[in-house]
Amino acid sequence: MNIIYDDSKRVFHLQSGTEDNGTSYVMQVHKNGYLGHAYWGRRINNVNIDELLVLAQRVSFSANPEEGNSLLSLDTFPQEYPAYGKTDLRVPAYSIQLENGSTIIDLRYDSYKIINGKPALSGLPAVYAESADEAKTLEVTMIDKLIGLKVILSYTVFKDYNVIARNVRFINEGTTDLKILSALSMSIDFDNYNYDFLHLHGSWARERHIERRPLIKGNQSIMSRRGASSHVHNPFIALLNKDATEDNGEVYGFSLVYSGNFIAQAEVDQYDTTRVSIGINPFDFSWLLKPKETFQTPEAVMVYSSDGLGGMSRTYHDLYRSRLCRGEYRDKSRPVLVNNWEATYFNFNAEKIEAIAKVGKQLGIELFVLDDGWFGKRDSDNCSLGDWVVDKKKLPDGLKDLAERINKTGLKFGLWFEPEMVSPDSDLYRAHPDWCLHVPDRSRSLARNQLILDLSREDVCEYIIKAVSDVLRSAPISYVKWDMNRNMTEIGSELLPPDRQRETAHRYMLGLYRVLDKITANFPNILFESCSGGGGRFDPAMLYYMPQTWTSDDTDAVERIKIQYGTSIVYPVSTMGAHVSAVPNHQVHRNTSLKTRGDVAMSGNFGYELDLTKFTEDEKEHVKEQIAEYKELRHIIQFGDMYRLLSPFEGNDTSWIIVSKDKTEAFAAYFSVLAVPNGPIKRIKFKGLDAKKNYTIEGKEGIYGGDELMYAGIPVPVLEGDYQSVVWKIKSV
Ligand code: DGJ
Repeated sequence: MNIIYDDSKRVFHLQSGTEDNGTSYVMQVHKNGYLGHAYWGRRINNVNIDELLVLAQRVSFSANPEEGNSLLSLDTFPQEYPAYGKTDLRVPAYSIQLENGSTIIDLRYDSYKIINGKPALSGLPAVYAESADEAKTLEVTMIDKLIGLKVILSYTVFKDYNVIARNVRFINEGTTDLKILSALSMSIDFDNYNYDFLHLHGSWARERHIERRPLIKGNQSIMSRRGASSHVHNPFIALLNKDATEDNGEVYGFSLVYSGNFIAQAEVDQYDTTRVSIGINPFDFSWLLKPKETFQTPEAVMVYSSDGLGGMSRTYHDLYRSRLCRGEYRDKSRPVLVNNWEATYFNFNAEKIEAIAKVGKQLGIELFVLDDGWFGKRDSDNCSLGDWVVDKKKLPDGLKDLAERINKTGLKFGLWFEPEMVSPDSDLYRAHPDWCLHVPDRSRSLARNQLILDLSREDVCEYIIKAVSDVLRSAPISYVKWDMNRNMTEIGSELLPPDRQRETAHRYMLGLYRVLDKITANFPNILFESCSGGGGRFDPAMLYYMPQTWTSDDTDAVERIKIQYGTSIVYPVSTMGAHVSAVPNHQVHRNTSLKTRGDVAMSGNFGYELDLTKFTEDEKEHVKEQIAEYKELRHIIQFGDMYRLLSPFEGNDTSWIIVSKDKTEAFAAYFSVLAVPNGPIKRIKFKGLDAKKNYTIEGKEGIYGGDELMYAGIPVPVLEGDYQSVVWKIKSV
């Protein structure tokens, strides 16, 4: 890791990661003060800047900002943070309107600063350095002298992680108001478009499916306008060299640490260059920046990998697991839990809950999670959100009593909340009908019978902090599931003036982050899991506050193979909640074996979500073994390196292996969806093992070389029937 500045040529050379697995990122201050982008890729030592940043004479349709210099047009010059209109006519990284209506901004280089470590982002989650020697940060200050706008471009490189983290601060040092119309977190210009565009798309119960397609001329983007990062698109894209595979070739990843409306885009221009940017979606957004005020963008985390998509994923996994997630549970094994949602839905009482917990204890489960329905008069989803007071009809002796009874069975107790919401049928709404997002004179559209509280308001945030904290203090609660079950409509806030209404959605996020910061800091021993109808807000920002997420409301083992595989493109296994549920499955009505359901769920934070009291004795024995097996393996599964072996998006079979960091142990899984008549003999070639070590595989005779397991592989047993799975437990000898 290093940041080198060559004063003679005004070149910044950032080096992230290590000598042999590192990245170089090079930029140059052009003689007129524009900040040019020269290189991002595999680490280099020398920089011949004139070979990297080449200017070419272009036609008159690309205008020149400097008289007499027809070589320079910002329309063709690769830039670090481009604006539209001052000769660059491509997609801008930001846009600002002045009081006179103009949107022309002309930022020029002013100064730079190199900081040891990584400063926090005001009000926003971000990756962090634990000590000053883990990271270095370059801050480049750009100024538009005419209006007194200062823009600070921040770049952090890490010693142990091959990433570059970027963010931008806008400071109004002028005397007039500025209106930010867009402020993306990063922009970068590639000198060609010979790439594929990869992103993760989906819907409720079908999150993060992988799509890879060639870049085409023009703009291609994914985005959210839903007020959440959403089930539909994840705030992540990657460009892959055409020949890049899972294990080889160059891949460039872009991940946004943000939970709200975002855009991620790649524009291929007339000269075949590609401009990539990611940040807050400018759609329906603006921000009034008064003199002396600062606007901070979210952080973009960029990963370059020369080891294919798998190399990129493992870099994100390591960074997000260790330097984004925080708190006691960051490095601690996650408990095996049972959640009562699919077991009882709203129909439970204390006796039923205790009965499930008692069986759970016999089976080896460590935590009971009481899901929706414990508060207000919530017997269905049509009321009571906002009234975080226990329902005495269901739990006559209160939460404390129930939690203690669960504790007595030997399990910890966890609780579900949906704190950002309000039901129209609630005491909270009756008292404060203005506390939800809404616009004047328009009806308030319901989704799942609920409205969204206006977290851009401080009083609403304070209410949530107090209401949730009071409950958490009232009983021995060890885990919280923080749910959020609708997207935003009629976005507006009663307290904001008309010219700030378009700030509402981002102010909501800032409010949410403040609430989460406060609550998670006040209850450091509680394990928090985020959820949004499953994976509707599975994003890096949420992981900063809550180190795991309920991956999907779809608990069907076959559907989960794709969802968990797609999620692993960016997110580590330790962040994915995965439960065994009943058959026929409640979402797709499919029947799969207990073994397959267990094997899929074991590749995540393991748990059960069914009525344990309904198990037969045989099933109980099987589940006991599953849980014991998971406990034996979870240090590998939750903290090891994941290698994807076969993709469910490319065929009938899926496989992955998770290898402990010291390469002495591994857990591998193989899934076959449909039975193939008279099919071929299949071999699985493992990855990530030590070629020089010898290993045993549980249930198989003999000793296997790591080289043998990786280069020759082992045959997959012949499987009979649909939805089959095999797991291998591998240990070095
Ligand atoms: C949606 C979640 O994803 C489910 O797991 C469950 O908690 C329900 N909400 C409860 O309403």
